[in-house]
Amino acid sequence: MKVLLVGSGGREHALAWKLIQSENCEQLFIAPGNGGTGALGTNVQLDINDYDAIGAFVREQGIDMLIVGPEAPLVEGIRDHLESIEDLIIVGPGKDGAALEGSKSFAKSFMASAGIPTANAKTFDQSQLDAALRFLGDMQPPYVLKADGLAAGKGVIITSDYKEARETVERMLNGQFGKASSHILIEQFLSGIEYSVFALCDGKNWVLLPEAKDYKRVGEGDTGPNTGGMGAVSPVPFFNTTLRQKTIDKVIQPTVDELIKRGIDYKGFIFFGLIAVDGEPYVIEYNCRMGDPETEVVMPRLKTDLVSLLEHMHHQTLDKVTVEFDGRHTVTVMLCSEGYPGSYEKKKTIHIDVGLHEALLFHAGTTGAEGGELLTNGGRVIAITCQSEDDVTSALVKAMTAAEKVSFEGKFYRKDIGFDL
Ligand code: AMP
Ligand code: GLY
Repeated sequence: MKVLLVGSGGREHALAWKLIQSENCEQLFIAPGNGGTGALGTNVQLDINDYDAIGAFVREQGIDMLIVGPEAPLVEGIRDHLESIEDLIIVGPGKDGAALEGSKSFAKSFMASAGIPTANAKTFDQSQLDAALRFLGDMQPPYVLKADGLAAGKGVIITSDYKEARETVERMLNGQFGKASSHILIEQFLSGIEYSVFALCDGKNWVLLPEAKDYKRVGEGDTGPNTGGMGAVSPVPFFNTTLRQKTIDKVIQPTVDELIKRGIDYKGFIFFGLIAVDGEPYVIEYNCRMGDPETEVVMPRLKTDLVSLLEHMHHQTLDKVTVEFDGRHTVTVMLCSEGYPGSYEKKKTIHIDVGLHEALLFHAGTTGAEGGELLTNGGRVIAITCQSEDDVTSALVKAMTAAEKVSFEGKFYRKDIGFDL
């Protein structure tokens, strides 16, 4: 099987790492990939939003399987565009299914019709600024304000300051995030502990992958601004049999049932962003792809062959599959560039010490330079994943030891991933 993986982050490096372990993965291309993925397959310089160019590459190379890592091409309809290519397996939903991530108001109405627990919310458009401000006035703090569309992880503001909330509503509806905030949601605040669950869905059946918990705030103790994710752990100890069963019964199965009812043929990953409130699961968000950095702990825990799972997804035979997990405690720590999630410098030389045998290094924002040099190329640079039979702490200690063997100017990382577990 010839596989083309679209994306360039730590998620894609982790997927590539897993894919090439499959006997069925004859050749792997990553578009555009990063400084790490080139060692696992062939990086190809394709624009991930240029579906014609991707389609042409698929035809020229005889690609059998196209895996779409990030959400933007899915929300914009890459599957719909390339679906007519004969015998091509595409991993990722069409525009209709990807709207679960692409429009938070769509996701809310979807959950309302399926009776899936989520925070109450009301949607407003640009002509309803006054109504939005009146509604806000009737809410209790903290205020949760969300841009409806994709806003690169910056579209959610939570504040207890009423004045700031009013200003945010005005700013968003006045086009802060362009089209993404032409509609906004004002949402009830839920207090609880967050976790992420991943399903692979074939349009009829689904299987669960290892769950994870990610750490979004830049600072230790979950402080400071939100990032794409500073680290993750799997398994999640409080995701016990009871919470797992409730999550399946109240969220996962009803989601797939509702997709089927609406005639949405969803073939791809569904990432459920959840919060347990007094032991009850509520959906915070849906994503139509795997998480980053969650994939960097999920893939190392997945024992089952990924290519074979994805073939079953294509043939709608996931009901015939048992997914096996590695039980070890798995932690990933993201090494970042000084300044992130604000502005930061790129093109810093990265040195990696040899002797990292207990660590997996998944490149997130790196690029190769002439002479084999490796340079930073993003705010999140390298995810270090380590595993331990014993506990989360031992895995974290290993990851921190490895983190000290990777150096570049301005490097920082959170040393407390998993602190709350
Ligand atoms: P989202 O992009 O929707 O996942 O939101 C980003 C983060 O904001 C989530 O991971 C939560 O930590 C937080 N969040 C979103 N919605 C709520 C809510 N209704 N109540 C409490 N926290 C929330
Ligand atoms: N780590 C959160 C995400 O991938 O959206």
